[in-house]
Amino acid sequence: MKTKEKLKKLFEENKGCFISGEDIGKKLGCTRCAVWKAVKSLRAEGYDIPAIQNKGYCLAENNDIITEEKIRKHLDTEKVKEINVFRSIDSTNSGLKTLAANGAPEGTLVISENQTAGRGRRGSSFFSPDNTGIYMSLLLRPDIPVTDAVKITTSAAAAAAEAIEELTGIPSKIKWVNDIYLRRRKVCGILTEAATDIECGRAEYVILGIGINVYPPSEDFPDEIKNTAGCVFEERISDMRSMLAARVISYFFRYYEELEKNTFFESYKKRIMWIGEKINIISPSGTVPAFLTGINDDCGLLVKYADGTEGVVTSGEISIRKKL
Ligand code: BTN
Repeated sequence: MKTKEKLKKLFEENKGCFISGEDIGKKLGCTRCAVWKAVKSLRAEGYDIPAIQNKGYCLAENNDIITEEKIRKHLDTEKVKEINVFRSIDSTNSGLKTLAANGAPEGTLVISENQTAGRGRRGSSFFSPDNTGIYMSLLLRPDIPVTDAVKITTSAAAAAAEAIEELTGIPSKIKWVNDIYLRRRKVCGILTEAATDIECGRAEYVILGIGINVYPPSEDFPDEIKNTAGCVFEERISDMRSMLAARVISYFFRYYEELEKNTFFESYKKRIMWIGEKINIISPSGTVPAFLTGINDDCGLLVKYADGTEGVVTSGEISIRKKL
């Protein structure tokens, strides 16, 4: 183990306690200069490490840096193989795509403290500021027809909603298809991308990308999402982001292992927003008003149009119709 990794472990085990540079050196078997260099490098990674003269260094108590060890501590599945933690990356989906093309196994995870070109659905960008969110992508190699890949998205939405609810104690909702809402604000989005084997129409691999706004960003949300975006917690909580990421992944794998049985469906269905409300169905061909009556077993929306006819919506976006 490198000095920096050993120091990280020592700090985590003594969170909030000061340790002198000399004692750290003795414990890690290195010079004080090496300790100082490792501290500097951890600070550059975002660790809050205050230093007090004659007392030494300590890791701040409410430290919430994402680490592999912390994620593993809260996982209850063996399915996660490699965990790649980045300080910064363009997009975890793009990074994982490269690993997938090079043969990475199912269960490879890429997670980052920020994204410089985070991607959302329909070609949009995903606001991914540093140190306040979870931006992660999980590699899956399911033996399913590519048309079933949508179940990965919907089961992930159920998993994310459950994990958020578990850790906040606040009921979470799903805006069809896969946006998670908490306190009426979007806190999580999901982008699933699949590579298809054209010959047999099966998924070669699927990249499940999940973005969660965990804490308020240091500069407000951009104007385009200011009125809809929210965050899971208002205050930083020690180790919370690693824990939340691990809980989402753990819930997801429970559903993924039984994808053909649709065990996610009850959880998904009960969280769907706006059932019994007037909505707009937005698609490239235009916006159509309708009344949302429910959801079918394939996660399609059951709607009634203004002329009294009924239909099932399987693609597009929906929005709530504001009362005049
Ligand atoms: C959406 O709400 O439009 C979907 C957003 C998905 C964002 C996540 S963050 C991790 C992964 N990497 C990306 O570039 N996008 C997804």
